[in-house]
Amino acid sequence: MTHTQAFDHWIRNEFIQLNTELEQRYFAQEDRANVEGIGDEIKAAMERQGREHVTRLLAEGNTDQGFDANFDLLGNVGMYMAACRRHDLTEPSRESSSPLKEASALALHIGASLGVTPRFATSHLTTHCLAKQGQPKRFTSLEDEALFIDFNTLAVLAYKRAADALVRILPMGISHPVAPYLLEDARLALVDVARWNRVLFERLAPERFFHSVRPYYKPFRVGQHEYRGANAGDFAGINVIDMLLGLCQANNPFYSQLLVDKFLYMMPEDQRLLRDVMRRPSFLDQLLEVPVSQQQSAWYREVASKFLQVLDAHGHTAHQHHDQLVSRFISSPSATMAKKHLAQVTASGPPLEVLLRSLEKLRDLRMAAERDDIPSRFRDVATLRASVADGAQR
Ligand code: HEM
Repeated sequence: MTHTQAFDHWIRNEFIQLNTELEQRYFAQEDRANVEGIGDEIKAAMERQGREHVTRLLAEGNTDQGFDANFDLLGNVGMYMAACRRHDLTEPSRESSSPLKEASALALHIGASLGVTPRFATSHLTTHCLAKQGQPKRFTSLEDEALFIDFNTLAVLAYKRAADALVRILPMGISHPVAPYLLEDARLALVDVARWNRVLFERLAPERFFHSVRPYYKPFRVGQHEYRGANAGDFAGINVIDMLLGLCQANNPFYSQLLVDKFLYMMPEDQRLLRDVMRRPSFLDQLLEVPVSQQQSAWYREVASKFLQVLDAHGHTAHQHHDQLVSRFISSPSATMAKKHLAQVTASGPPLEVLLRSLEKLRDLRMAAERDDIPSRFRDVATLRASVADGAQR
């Protein structure tokens, strides 16, 4: 067995058992958010066993096995570091550089050579997580973790399908006879996103998710720098949809900051796709430029009405994310949590109310909500709706 295989075997077996045992002990307490003084011998075993694997890999040096194998190894090192953070063996505000020196060195080496962030990213657990004998990699064997990740993966894949259909319109142009079919593909994919969001909303246990799953997504240091937590949004598709529909614009500082911050958290192919789409004009702008004299033509009426259905479907998924998922699984449990733990709640780092305001802005941009303090396309979308309705009356 190679060192890489031995580490992978450990991540898929002992690592999961140790984390699960710790989660059960934390969860049995009255203050479920407390980790201090619980299972110290288990934590120490996890830290030591992981370090032994990583040290052997580091000593082995640069054994290039191609992108996939290296990316997979980065995921394993990242999961180990994230678990150490979760169990408070490391804590970024307490340290000026990560005490996990060997793991940091390995993660920095691989991350820099692949052009991705030197920590585990969402794709390691979702779209690029290799299952063995029916078992993908997980932190724990808790049912709620599996449910969360599997339905997140399905939602990510559905967003990617919607984005793919929209991107295929670009070389043909929005007035092409095939465009309405591609818009319908995008709409159906967004209906699927809504379906998976609903499953999460209905089946995931809020307390379990909040106390035993989400803590693995916290920020941690790799070497000197702190890297924000992973979130389900770290793929290009959702932003491709935002921008091609015209709901969000890459020249808006709030939105472009978000894009800039997520680049290295995405797979290189997603980074390329996002860069490409950032310089394209949106379909909304193209439709708004169609002269009134052409707005009664069959192609315009068909495309514009289908386009509006895609906008509505995208807005609906944004509404679900914020008003159902974030509200039920983050805001509500935070409200009942002991104040001393609150600073640690978000995966991205900012205080909860700052994060919630920013997520609310995104929701409103995606819903083209009537707001003047953000560049919402409310009025433009209303103009488009009116143009379709006018045509229907003629
Ligand atoms: C970001 C919560 C599921 C897509 C976030 C953030 C939170 C959050 C709090 C802000 C960043 C952070 O601190 O982590 C949740 C919860 C979910 C869930 C509680 C389910 C239990 C999903 C799913 C998707 C998704 C299924 C679909 C792929 C996104 C996106 C972002 C994000 C795209 C980045 C910000 C944006 O562009 O809106 N999520 N999320 N999330 N999430 Fe979710």
